[in-house]
Amino acid sequence: MIPATTEGLVATGLVQTYPVGRRLFGPVEHFRAVDGASFHIAEGETLGIVGESGSGKSTLGRMVAGIEAPAGGSISFWGESYAPVGSPQWRRQRRQVQVVFQNPAAVVDPRWTIHAQVREALTTHETLARSEADDRAQAMLTMVGLATLGKRLPHQLSGGQLQRAVIARALVLRPRLVICDEAVSALDVSVQAQIINLLLELREKLKLSLMFISHDLSVVRHISHRVGVMHAGKLLEIGDSRTLFEAPQHDYSRRLLAAIPADTPRQRRERDLRTFGALP
Ligand SMILES: Nc1ncnc2c1ncn2[C@@H]1O[C@H](COP(=O)(O)OP(=O)(O)OP(=O)(O)O)[C@@H](O)[C@H]1O
Ligand SMILES: [Mg+2]
Repeated sequence: MIPATTEGLVATGLVQTYPVGRRLFGPVEHFRAVDGASFHIAEGETLGIVGESGSGKSTLGRMVAGIEAPAGGSISFWGESYAPVGSPQWRRQRRQVQVVFQNPAAVVDPRWTIHAQVREALTTHETLARSEADDRAQAMLTMVGLATLGKRLPHQLSGGQLQRAVIARALVLRPRLVICDEAVSALDVSVQAQIINLLLELREKLKLSLMFISHDLSVVRHISHRVGVMHAGKLLEIGDSRTLFEAPQHDYSRRLLAAIPADTPRQRRERDLRTFGALP
């Protein structure tokens, strides 16, 4: 049997520090943005990450993406540790984990068509005949629902369409893990639902693992198999999504998760009873 560690991502004791202020003398002080986070994401699994602003969610995402080397701890990615940032091996590894951020307009090139950008992502990593690269880019655009819009420039797309294009550009590289950092937070609620459904569909089709970072607890609950709660750089608890939302162990998680609107008055009442004990 293959050990579980070779079929997913395993993070152990991740730490990230940033220098704070400047001093002429004495040691530079460091702020711990992430302070000893350990977790795993299995193949095909979605791990949600919730926590208030500044708790270290994006910093954690950047280390998992290999964009930033951790100050401490280690990451095993399908059994391989990350190579030093910038090395040729790192470039190969970086392809396997892609990130989708909140603001798609900031990460696309305004001068290139959507199709050209998806194709370019592919040809940066692979030597391909032009026609094959074109075909694969087109197939990916079709998969995200932009089959007929490839010739458009970014400013000719809606926010939701642009996020689909960014997803296509990330997935054309066939990553194993996609980190969504507030990927739907800037979109209208109805468009959010469409993008979430697209991600769920692609997760099945492409057997993707997802790390889904979001402020929106109901979205995280909907999409995640397991959820981790971050607070001040620490992963306070990780649990099966349903269990965590219904019976959080930690006091902080209870308060954070109580902010989620319940679906019906009855569910809300049950939740309030669980959160606050007997109602007056
Ligand atoms: N490059 C950096 N240099 C210095 N401090 C940083 C840097 N990046 C993040 N921080 C600090 O680390 C902490 C965690 O930031 P991070 O962006 O990971 O939080 P977050 O949970 O993603 O917040 P949000 O929900 O607002 O996106 C914050 O206090 C932030 O100010
Ligand atoms: Mg963030």
